[in-house]
Amino acid sequence: MNTVNKKYNIVTFGCQMNKADSERMAGILDTMGFEWVAEPEKADLVLYNTCTIRDNAEQKVYSYLGRQAKRKHQKPDLTLVVAGCVAQQEGEQLLRRVPELDLVMGPQHANRLEDLLQQVFDGNQVVATEPVHIFEDITKPRRDSKVTAWVNIIYGCNERCSYCVVPNVRGVEQSRTPEAIKGEMAELARQGYTEITLLGQNIDAYGRDLPGTTPEGRHQHTLTDLLYYVHDIPGIERIRFATSHPRYFTERLIKACYDLPKVCEHFHIPFQSGDNEILKAMKRGYTHEKYRRIIAKIREYMPDAAISADAIVGFPGETEAQFENTLKLVDDIGFDILNTAAYSPRPGTPAALWDNQLSEAVKSDRLQRINHLVSIKAAERSARYQDRIETVLVEDQNPKNLTQVMGRTRGNRLTFFPGDIEELRGKIVPVKITEVRPFSLTGEVVIPVFNNG
Ligand code: SAH
Ligand code: SF4
Ligand code: F3S
Repeated sequence: MNTVNKKYNIVTFGCQMNKADSERMAGILDTMGFEWVAEPEKADLVLYNTCTIRDNAEQKVYSYLGRQAKRKHQKPDLTLVVAGCVAQQEGEQLLRRVPELDLVMGPQHANRLEDLLQQVFDGNQVVATEPVHIFEDITKPRRDSKVTAWVNIIYGCNERCSYCVVPNVRGVEQSRTPEAIKGEMAELARQGYTEITLLGQNIDAYGRDLPGTTPEGRHQHTLTDLLYYVHDIPGIERIRFATSHPRYFTERLIKACYDLPKVCEHFHIPFQSGDNEILKAMKRGYTHEKYRRIIAKIREYMPDAAISADAIVGFPGETEAQFENTLKLVDDIGFDILNTAAYSPRPGTPAALWDNQLSEAVKSDRLQRINHLVSIKAAERSARYQDRIETVLVEDQNPKNLTQVMGRTRGNRLTFFPGDIEELRGKIVPVKITEVRPFSLTGEVVIPVFNNG
């Protein structure tokens, strides 16, 4: 197939894993000779990288697809691809629902895009959803940012949280080797990247599937060991990781974050519910007391650490009192950011089949109430930055005010300040915070004053 002058667009839904996969798939299309175009309506190849974590995420995909399917009737050489988690969940059924599709490919097949497209250009309609060993990524991702980058360290998830589709659609855990991860990070440093976020659905599971145990009998390759192993790459100034699971979170890891200067004091540890009965029904494997102990331990080492999390309200059978236990946890911990969602029954998950589902009215009422508390607490957390000097890694221009640049503090708070992006992109700058809002800050650069006296 001649790809010269052919244009592509990728629309990405869902989490950071999907964003990372999209960047790799864009890199493959670039290598094949396709050219990126910003509007899907102008593209010869449109790829939807989809999410099915909640029903509304899935429905969004169908409405976008419908539009492109129509366009294909005017433009028969349009190539339509559905990748990601809806593709994995629906497989061939997607072809029946949208016969205009050329390729349906699960997340484990992202690195095989060129191969799969070749089959399409040979005249086939292709479905690639069988479980595979994920190829070590040898492509060059087309990354959105020139400053911060994601690096997958473990794919898949072996947990069985009773509400969650991820294990069904992302498959079993597959850790990359420490050498491959370090290699990718060194290459990123060479390209000028400053910040790396290590990614995994359950990042604390890193290394469980790799061979080797220590004399004490623990796995040789853990997230903690990996942090020490990759820490000293010159040029990389900041390291983050997500998502942490309270079931496996260790004091060793907290200590490593404390010891290692490049690892930011920012922890994303979803708790899902503040009620022990609900946590049990969710099969999360910890109590709210254990969760509180983890946060207390983090704050013992790093009193100012930023804590973010996810929570679900309206899980099947959740009583008003159990919901209030979640509110209480939110109130007690004081999260910097909390992502909340109303429970959504998902195909192929145990909780979807239970007969104690709550009404939409109850769920949305609880969602509103928790969100109200979340913004009050976030405002309280932001207030501590007032008049402080924070180091901000500049990522981009403020799209709403071009005289300002924006970046993040080590605690991951979005921060705006006056400055020239050409001069500041990728720099770490001391900024005095002059204005605080619940989820962002504004400040001004501090000119270092050298006092010879
Ligand atoms: N691996 C991460 C979360 C991955 S999914 C973890 O274990 O925490 C991201 C978030 O979506 C979850 O933290 C959860 O809060 C939410 N979520 C997952 N399934 C959901 C469902 N069926 N309904 C509502 N929210 C859900
Ligand atoms: Fe889903 Fe649980 Fe795995 Fe997170 S740990 S991805 S919530 S099954
Ligand atoms: Fe969605 Fe798949 Fe991520 S279901 S949240 S894109 S793992």
